[in-house]
Amino acid sequence: MYICVNPVFMKRDEFSGFFGVLVATVGSAVGLGNLWRFPYLVGQNGGAAFILVYLAFVIVICLPIMVAEFVIGRSTKANTVNAFKKLAPGSLWRGIGIMGVIASFCILAFYTVVGGWTVDYLVRSVIHLFSKPDISNLEAQFSQMVTSPLRPIIWTIVFIALSGFIVMSGVKKGIEKYSRVMMPFLFVMIIILAIRSITLPGAEAGISFLLKPDFSKITTETLLDALGQAFFSLSLGMGCMITYGSYIPDKENLTRLSFTTALSDTFFAFLAGLAIMPAVFAFGVSPQEGPGLVFIVLPRIFAQIPLGNVFAIFFFLILFIAAITSVISLMEVITAYLTEQKRIKRTWAVGIISVVVAVCACLSSLSQGLLKDVKIFGKTFFDFFDYLSANILLPIGGLLIVLFVGWRLKRSQVYEQFTNSGSLKGTFFRAFYFLIRYVAPVAIVILFLNVILK
Ligand code: PHE
Repeated sequence: MYICVNPVFMKRDEFSGFFGVLVATVGSAVGLGNLWRFPYLVGQNGGAAFILVYLAFVIVICLPIMVAEFVIGRSTKANTVNAFKKLAPGSLWRGIGIMGVIASFCILAFYTVVGGWTVDYLVRSVIHLFSKPDISNLEAQFSQMVTSPLRPIIWTIVFIALSGFIVMSGVKKGIEKYSRVMMPFLFVMIIILAIRSITLPGAEAGISFLLKPDFSKITTETLLDALGQAFFSLSLGMGCMITYGSYIPDKENLTRLSFTTALSDTFFAFLAGLAIMPAVFAFGVSPQEGPGLVFIVLPRIFAQIPLGNVFAIFFFLILFIAAITSVISLMEVITAYLTEQKRIKRTWAVGIISVVVAVCACLSSLSQGLLKDVKIFGKTFFDFFDYLSANILLPIGGLLIVLFVGWRLKRSQVYEQFTNSGSLKGTFFRAFYFLIRYVAPVAIVILFLNVILK
């Protein structure tokens, strides 16, 4: 029998239905961005005021961009570079796809390091299930772990290998299969944790911090932070949703999918805030702690509540699941590119990506300790990858994507995908098209100029 192995003739993998797509897209969106980045940005930027700005950006700018990315992906059924090549042959627009592949590497370079920390804390909390943890010097414990040369690197490599394994197994048999199990579990656990936290004595201060806005804390810098965070949290501006979009079956409703994904992600971020902030206030810790917030503050809280050791395992398991389902989506962007454009076999492609990411992640990890004085544009490797991706590459990518869909594609092409060739009503199409053409690009440009010209 003749077995066709040429990828051109092979049927492309696909998610299996609405729920299958949803667990994957929500898996990508819900991540360390919600649990680790969002709470400390909220803490540093005036609580509820930041949340309101964030919500406005999600609805007005990010939701339309997500639909736009799905439109690009599903109409071409291709990886991000090829998607732009197919829609605008011979033009420079394919640069957006290439930028997306680069952005994926940049995010993976620091994200997997934090993923490694979560594995470290998870393993530790399992080992200490029956003992009383030492909380006299949590700050020192955290900094000792992240600055040590070998330990975080080993866990980061373990984390990368696990993610690589899932991606290697395929879109339906890997990404979707594992997300189907992990995502519902994740939501149940965060709800339990949030309930535990808001019932702590003294939790009111934290809840009111999340609900009462202090607008005096809002500056243009804050606005860019909120926009960057919205892009980051919804996995937008770098081809991730284009790639996942290319695996969405033709009959699925893209608006409904985008709406549900954005809603779930925002709901999860809010639950994470509810799980973290009341506990932070109840134990008198400053909400402005920064990136170490979840690693330093939470273990102290777990040590002081009944069944704390079990909640600690819960929490680090949540962090781990959230992180890994996002990392696989980032890896898939590059994997789809290498297998389809460069004709590299999936297994090899994932192997190559894992090695390159591991090398970059080592630099990020070491930049917390040994290499902390090596700076690029005044930032350590770790901060450089974070800032470059969230505050620069994603918003620029997002801007180019809306310009492409709003001004380069024909209205009818977009309408066709939006309504599944006319079989859906397309009630929101006019609003969507207006936001994509005018509101989103203008808002992104104004925000950028404000920060650059300052
Ligand atoms: N959305 C993920 C998070 O919130 C991060 C991510 C960004 C994943 C971009 C994929 C692409 O943690």
